[in-house]
Amino acid sequence: MDNTFTEFTGAGNLPFVRIANQAAVAEICLMGGHITSYVPQNQQELFFISEKSNFKAGMPIRGGVPLCWPWFGAPAPELQCDQILHGFARQSMWSIAKTTPISDEESAIVLVLKSTPESMQLWAHSFYLELEVVVGKKLQIRLATTNTGNTTFTYSQALHHYFNIGDIHQLRVVGFDGLSFFDKAPMATPPVENPQVGDITFRCETDRIYHHHTADAVIVDPVLQRQIRISKANSDTSVVWNPWIAKAQRMADFGDEEYLRMVCVESGNVTYDSRTLAPGEKHTLEATIAIEPLCHD
Ligand code: BG6
Repeated sequence: MDNTFTEFTGAGNLPFVRIANQAAVAEICLMGGHITSYVPQNQQELFFISEKSNFKAGMPIRGGVPLCWPWFGAPAPELQCDQILHGFARQSMWSIAKTTPISDEESAIVLVLKSTPESMQLWAHSFYLELEVVVGKKLQIRLATTNTGNTTFTYSQALHHYFNIGDIHQLRVVGFDGLSFFDKAPMATPPVENPQVGDITFRCETDRIYHHHTADAVIVDPVLQRQIRISKANSDTSVVWNPWIAKAQRMADFGDEEYLRMVCVESGNVTYDSRTLAPGEKHTLEATIAIEPLCHD
């Protein structure tokens, strides 16, 4: 079977695993359980990674698929760790629990992160987090949270996919028409609820939480001549983000011009869609991503 899992030391001397089969090649950094690359046969790279990204233990990677967990955005004030945006999972060292060669064209890997005395200092709950990634003609991502403690907890999360695109000015994202979104961009003061009319296009900093979004999101990219379809399960919210010019310039780990060739369309459980797990309960957030020929015109 032409199906391999190769552990190697990559950027910043961090541990990575490369998963290869006849349909695709993917790479995951164990720091963060962070997918950094997915290239299906005869296709271009799916994910954007900043040329200025840190690759350093304890620092988030700018691009790929950061795992925002157990909170999305800023932590609740009582946690007193406001320097940790999007939770600590993306900065934690994960371990490989299982590798499964499914077929010549499909491979599965499971990475895990468990609560430790250090994580309990930040977030006082016992948990078992499993990231299952299935690499094939499509990329399947499942992030399963189990409450292994004695008390109920509530958490928010997102698969913060950064997609590699041709030109943000020519990009459209389909699948949100008629939904309402909460606008987090700075010019939306005070932050307001808005209705989405038609497809999403980008002309300024865009930072939105879409409510009741369960349909596929399709990123239509006429420059790379492809579309990216994101199908998800157990998620009612999606986040769409592009930092645009001024924020790109403020971000130390992001190139000034890189906003032109990336977009984040994130699958999540955020704000009202946060999940509560009683002891022993488990919730799995899922996204399946496929590169397709252009068909939306
Ligand atoms: C997005 C948020 O999900 O992530 C943005 O909606 C944020 O507000 C962006 O700027 C990047 O966050 P970070 O912590 O990786 O810089």
